[in-house]
Amino acid sequence: MYANMTGSAHPLAPPEIAVKAIPEDERVWVPQAEGVWFRPLMLNTLVGQWCNLLRVRRSGVLSRHLHPNPVHGYVIKGRWHYREHDWVAETGSYVFEPPGEIHTLLVPEDVEEMITFFNITGSMVYLDEDNAHIGYEDVFTKIDMCRAHYQRVGLGADYVDQLIR
Ligand SMILES: [Fe+2]
Repeated sequence: MYANMTGSAHPLAPPEIAVKAIPEDERVWVPQAEGVWFRPLMLNTLVGQWCNLLRVRRSGVLSRHLHPNPVHGYVIKGRWHYREHDWVAETGSYVFEPPGEIHTLLVPEDVEEMITFFNITGSMVYLDEDNAHIGYEDVFTKIDMCRAHYQRVGLGADYVDQLIR
């Protein structure tokens, strides 16, 4: 039988995170590119993983990328698709992206705003049209972006600490 029957976390386990995913304070959204923001939810430095909301308020190609690990997504608002696939992810869709896949994220012109929850392990490797590497992100670059942004907007660099494990 499992020893911890009290329902509380194991003493060695880090505390839970329970936050309003779509924040009331606009400053919590971290700018990623023109018309693109992310809202960090959980930044896991032990596994090299992060959960966030991606918010896009522009259309067209967002990124072409590869991830060597799986990605899980859930569309909260709007619609998007990958140029390489026939399916469309729309409000309420769940998406599993297998390791090693290269795809190009597109937001259609008639979508004013899309918000998608992503659970990403490892890294995002950004590619140009010839599949040359042009950049990458991992949980540490995400944390750095959050710190710099929260410092700039007056929340303080340590605002992100509540989301780091
Ligand atoms: Fe992807």
